[in-house]
Amino acid sequence: MIASVLPTYSRAPLTFVKGEGTWLIEADGRRFLDLGAGIAVNALGHAHPKLVAALTDQAGALWHTSNLYHIPQQQQLADKLVDSTFADTVFFTNSGTEACELAVKMARKFWYEKNAPQKVDIITFDGSFHGRSSAGIAAAGSEKMTKGFGPLLPGFTHLAFGDHDALGAAITDTTAAIMIEPVQGEGGIRPVPDQCLKGLRDLCDEHGILLILDEVQCGVGRTGKLFAHEWAGIEPDIMMVAKGIGGGFPLGAVLATEYAASGMTAGTHGSTYGGNPLGCAVGCAVLDEVNTPEFLAEVNRKSGLLRQKLEGLVADNPDVFESVRGAGLMIGIKCKAVNMDIVNAGYDTQVITVPAADNVIRLLPPLTITDDEIADAIARLDKAAKAVSA
Ligand SMILES: Cc1ncc(COP(=O)(O)O)c(C=O)c1O
Repeated sequence: MIASVLPTYSRAPLTFVKGEGTWLIEADGRRFLDLGAGIAVNALGHAHPKLVAALTDQAGALWHTSNLYHIPQQQQLADKLVDSTFADTVFFTNSGTEACELAVKMARKFWYEKNAPQKVDIITFDGSFHGRSSAGIAAAGSEKMTKGFGPLLPGFTHLAFGDHDALGAAITDTTAAIMIEPVQGEGGIRPVPDQCLKGLRDLCDEHGILLILDEVQCGVGRTGKLFAHEWAGIEPDIMMVAKGIGGGFPLGAVLATEYAASGMTAGTHGSTYGGNPLGCAVGCAVLDEVNTPEFLAEVNRKSGLLRQKLEGLVADNPDVFESVRGAGLMIGIKCKAVNMDIVNAGYDTQVITVPAADNVIRLLPPLTITDDEIADAIARLDKAAKAVSA
């Protein structure tokens, strides 16, 4: 008999009932150090007092009205994002994959309105992940995600990650945009080097096509800048955001320049819940906390500390781990042992990590993790590694 919850997930045998900062508390009372943060979602950890206050204050005032009316919290969050980024305008969604849907629509509509309706194709990269909607799976294109779900949304050209020659050759008269994660998340924490992001920007400018960045996983302070592309000193035309922006409340966004968004006029897109008062009240509180030089400097300092300790962990467990990579507090450990064995051993030592492709385990802790918790994390990961190699 089919489970009452559609069985699309293989879940760990864990049921968390409470969260406190970097800690998750299991139904049986055990405390787990959370280095996954709900896959880069709980940017400020669990039950952050400012987020709890923002949500409960808004919950006591107004939950929902619909986008038929003005929503002050949505306006505030859009203004904050526009003030702090390349963007001139923002559309709010509930998730990353909805942001992908709009990014694709926006790029195509842009060219349609520019009297170039043939420009519909979007170049994407192997190992990418843009969500599970029809546009998201077609964009990523992997067999794992697309098999059995055809016919797929047409108009995506998939290239090998890092193949510069193929990229130049793939741009044609029908190319509308390039879509890329500045740091691949699900693909195994693979950062795009700054030089390559700059090269992509130049290539888009040369051909007059749009650059869409997917910062759903790597955005909102995760890499030590508000958005990861800032490290490369470039700006996209369109950017997808989700996860960290809501700190655990379902919230996503598409940010765009006025130019790239020029096709999106009244009636061309919408969402019942996107940008609702609850989500945007929390989003404002997240951004106020994360988007300060002091907070981001701390992310960078702690990232350095964690990276240094992880190098030691890898050196101490050479038959289990191979190397450390990533950016900021978005870190991948390439494993020699089977990554899932290490994730499972971590459950025994009460530390949460997340598997990714390329036999990597991901560490995406709350950006508020403390130095003591970093030391504790290393001890728990070491114990897990010793259990795997035993
Ligand atoms: C880079 C990236 N894009 C898009 C998504 C899809 O986001 P969501 O699961 O909120 O639809 C994810 C989710 O992991 C992601 O990592």
